Amino acid sequence: MKKVRVALLGLGTVGTGTWKILRDNGPMIEEKAGCCLEVARVLVKNPEKKRAVELPEGILTTDFESIVADPSIDIIVEVIGGIEPARDYIIRALQAGKQVVTANKAVLAQHGSDIFAAADAQRRTIKYEASVCGGIPIISALQQSLLSNAILEITGILNGTTNYILTRMTESGKDFDTALKEAQGLGYAEADPAADVMGVDAANKLAILAYLAFGLKLDVKSIQTEGITGVTQRDIAAAREADFCIKLLASAKKINGTYRLKVCPEVIPLNHPLAGVSGVNNAVLVKGNAVNELMFYGQGAGEMPTGSAVVSDIIALALQVA
Ligand code: HSE
Repeated sequence: MKKVRVALLGLGTVGTGTWKILRDNGPMIEEKAGCCLEVARVLVKNPEKKRAVELPEGILTTDFESIVADPSIDIIVEVIGGIEPARDYIIRALQAGKQVVTANKAVLAQHGSDIFAAADAQRRTIKYEASVCGGIPIISALQQSLLSNAILEITGILNGTTNYILTRMTESGKDFDTALKEAQGLGYAEADPAADVMGVDAANKLAILAYLAFGLKLDVKSIQTEGITGVTQRDIAAAREADFCIKLLASAKKINGTYRLKVCPEVIPLNHPLAGVSGVNNAVLVKGNAVNELMFYGQGAGEMPTGSAVVSDIIALALQVA
């Protein structure tokens, strides 16, 4: 059986989930991919750090150069997050002829044009299902299953941390800081949770969805963005009294011939399909001109749901490589 060799850049929350799924579902994955998937190298900052998973001796490295220069590595998986060095590593991996998987919404929203150009130039594929809504297969839905539709509108809860915080504030009367700490403890939040609570993470994801759905240039700066730091217990109570709730919604639609993209806390009736989306769950409502309204729902953050999307992308690439 052919061996496809994978290098993992990063072993944080998403990298650990990716490792666990490849380990636990190994035989099934091998059968589906028709090849043996071997994680050959794992790039980390500190090889001495205690890890949540047991790793084979000598697999950890701090040297990206030795990975990108290694002709036996077929697929590079970027799960470091942040902009640099992730952007540089992704582009250099593509230029070296590797297939690439990334979970990095920030780098795609800000540098996606350069990254996709590098992939095209080398006739390589970059897959990024995990970048938007963790385990929910919304990227492949827009790239494949909904190609027959003109997409009219997208509205979603695209950030698990803020949805978790708003849910805890609503259901348990927790204050903002306590709920944020809980979300961080559960591995949902970004390294710097400002990106979550200020709405930037959701805006990055919306930029990617709008690129796929409407062909818009990836331009996160043009998205009107407001986070949840101004939402108070008073606002939540007032909404509840009127049978409404507050959700951080990301939406994109055409108004008078122009696309309007925004992320902001909105008051929605309790019978709205997105009102029942609680905790770390995400959901995306997509309206297509043929299919009408669809709702995609599931866990949008955390090691296993996000790892699920990463590993599926690895398998899809392994099918091309093998
Ligand atoms: N911090 C992000 C969230 C992680 O809470 O949704 C998944 O993108």
